Amino acid sequence: MLKGTKVALRARRADDVPVFRTELYEDVAGTSRAQAAPWRPVSPDAKDPRLALDDTDPSHVPFSVVDLATGGLIGLANLWGIDTHHRSAHLGLGLRPSARGKGYSTDVVAVLCHYGFTVRGFQRLQIDTLADNHPMLRAAERNGFVREGVLRSSAWVMGEFLDEVILGLLAGEWERGTEN
Ligand SMILES: CC(C)(COP(=O)(O)OP(=O)(O)OC[C@H]1O[C@@H](n2cnc3c(N)ncnc32)[C@H](O)[C@@H]1OP(=O)(O)O)[C@@H](O)C(=O)NCCC(=O)NCCS
Repeated sequence: MLKGTKVALRARRADDVPVFRTELYEDVAGTSRAQAAPWRPVSPDAKDPRLALDDTDPSHVPFSVVDLATGGLIGLANLWGIDTHHRSAHLGLGLRPSARGKGYSTDVVAVLCHYGFTVRGFQRLQIDTLADNHPMLRAAERNGFVREGVLRSSAWVMGEFLDEVILGLLAGEWERGTEN
């Protein structure tokens, strides 16, 4: 388990999956904003990689996020698009609606950085998010991520094209925390 100051990241468990399916993936508008692929209904027994407890895919590391103090499930986080040649990866996270607005996300990003830079030895981490996702942008920038560019009208989201922001953080720029 990886520990931050407010959250811990642990392995995804079978009993987490129905929570994520119900609270995150069945939210059409929310899922459309948070993932690149179009929203589709997800069956409970589907082989959908978002729900599968597959820890063998080398390009993707799924975590569940829990409150450090209580152990209560508050969301999911992952490294995706892992490239072991260029030593880079993308960060992703999604919190349960009841856990949003409480300042968890900055610590989730910090713990993902610890995993990416310290545990895995990556050179570069990237966050791809909609230009109007202000909490995500803030959580990224508080961890030192730099806005590297805007992909204009690159995301089709619920009937309109929106801009995406690419943020990057290099290992030499990262200021590791005292936790983890
Ligand atoms: C994105 C997400 C993880 C952020 O978590 P959150 O709980 O909503 O945000 P937090 O409460 O942790 O706030 C993060 C920071 O953004 C700030 N913030 C929140 N709303 C803001 C707004 N509208 N404008 C500017 N800053 C804002 C907070 O004050 C906080 O900064 P601070 O710590 O300096 O005070 C969460 O909203 C979520 O799961 N959204 C759906 C999935 C998603 O969008 N995932 C990201 C895909 S790339």
